[in-house]
Amino acid sequence: MSLATAEIRLDERVTKFVKERRKLLIGGQWVDAASGATFPVYNPATGEVIAHAAEGDKQDIDRAVQAARRAFESGGWPRLTPSERGRLVWKLGDLILEHLEELAQLESLDNGKPIGVARAADVPLAADLFHYMAGWATKIEGNTIPLSVPYAPGVKFHAYTLREPVGVVGQIIPWNFPLLMAAWKLGPALATGCTVVLKPAEETPLSALRLGELIQEAGFPDGVVNIITGFGETAGAALAAHPGIDKVAFTGSTEVGKLILQAATNDLKKVSLELGGKSPNVVLRDADLDLAISGTASAIFFNHGQCCCAGSRLFVHESIFDELVGGVADAAKKIKVGPGLDPNTQMGPMVSEIQFNRVCGYLESGLSEGANAVAGGKRLGGEGYFVEPTVLVDTKPDMKVIQEEIFGPVVAAIPFKELDDDLVRAANDTVYGLAAGVWTKDIGKAHSLAGMLKAGTVWINCYNIFDAALPFGGYKQSGWGREMGHDVLDLYTQKKAVCMAL
Ligand code: NAI
Ligand code: MG
Repeated sequence: MSLATAEIRLDERVTKFVKERRKLLIGGQWVDAASGATFPVYNPATGEVIAHAAEGDKQDIDRAVQAARRAFESGGWPRLTPSERGRLVWKLGDLILEHLEELAQLESLDNGKPIGVARAADVPLAADLFHYMAGWATKIEGNTIPLSVPYAPGVKFHAYTLREPVGVVGQIIPWNFPLLMAAWKLGPALATGCTVVLKPAEETPLSALRLGELIQEAGFPDGVVNIITGFGETAGAALAAHPGIDKVAFTGSTEVGKLILQAATNDLKKVSLELGGKSPNVVLRDADLDLAISGTASAIFFNHGQCCCAGSRLFVHESIFDELVGGVADAAKKIKVGPGLDPNTQMGPMVSEIQFNRVCGYLESGLSEGANAVAGGKRLGGEGYFVEPTVLVDTKPDMKVIQEEIFGPVVAAIPFKELDDDLVRAANDTVYGLAAGVWTKDIGKAHSLAGMLKAGTVWINCYNIFDAALPFGGYKQSGWGREMGHDVLDLYTQKKAVCMAL
């Protein structure tokens, strides 16, 4: 493992974009924060400041909510036909693809992820999400419903339902997939005719701000999307609590998800939450070993383990434990860790110093409690926030590294004896329920295990497969609601029953 250094040359548009002080998007205008405050944006590969962004606060959230309300109630947006709305959303998808390289570079620079991953996954998936959602704009339908009202004998009724946009939506997103999370949130909101105040994570505000420019270029009316960069405890909290918001959509930690919910109780605004995970990845004795080794390694190491659905608890049948875990450890040792902008990099740094310290803290805690690292186990290099891809063994069920979300490249491998209730209980022994993996050639076992795992997504002989058409979300404390697919439309619409006596 070594820290590589040969970085790509940045696109001129990227260097220019980061050089200029980034502003807030409110009502179609790029403006400074009311306080005039800014905050630094860091390159996690070096810890250096790469840009400055406006530090939005309560007052700016308030201005943005007012702009979003105006755009929702009047002006061009509510007058658009569904087809026109869909075409705007489609155009945004096209513009993302036209700016693929630029957006991928911005994402890699700001978040630290490998440029190859941003090019192949983050940016194309974001575009595809808008393209998929664009098609829904014209297909948001109600029903006609035959009535049999017992106390109105002989009266005929014409009854139907309408699905209307939920209104002004506050969206708070994390830093692990900054552009893609913006797309997951904005796509359905725009397809359904809502208006939005988006708050990107303070660690990674840049790609959402560039997306804001593309939203303007696509021709969305002013105020339909407002973007307020700033911190969670200030801008985020103000957005979650704002009485002018009809719904809050949040992705991030379970801890903050609970705060969002509390903030929403005042006016009972609608809430959807996509939160943490501690996902079990189960390898049965008959699994294709090569496939399972590369698949379970990528289940944890993809995006440096900074995935809510990371396969962080690896349950392996005892008969193949040494071979499989040895294979995952070898794969971990071969991963090229380095700056995201080096095209050879396979794993970048943790996103921030805080996240780096958090992950290193978990490593120390696990090792001091008796776990052993068969690969990795500590920080890598002396600068930037790099952590060695780590495989832990000899853990106990009550250790913090087994119970808590680490959100770093750290997997705990746990042997099991039989595919029985004990295994299922152990796999489900977590407050989370976001995802799970199963590796086997036995289709009966695969599907019966899929049925028993308490998780919103179960991957069989694959992992981290995302598609705009496939719903994603959590059981238990991993969240409320499903994003993507047609299920997400329920989160952004409400049903009105209309009943007329004929
Ligand atoms: P976080 O939950 O604090 O941050 C996510 C977003 O929420 C950011 O935009 C942040 O500004 C905002 N936020 C923070 N506090 C808020 C508040 N009081 N009110 C409203 N918004 C607020 O996550 P953080 O601190 O970045 O990471 C902590 C842990 O959370 C990670 O180690 C990981 O375990 C988990 N996490 C899970 C994610 C997921 O995709 N489910 C994404 C990011 C973090
Ligand atoms: Mg936080």
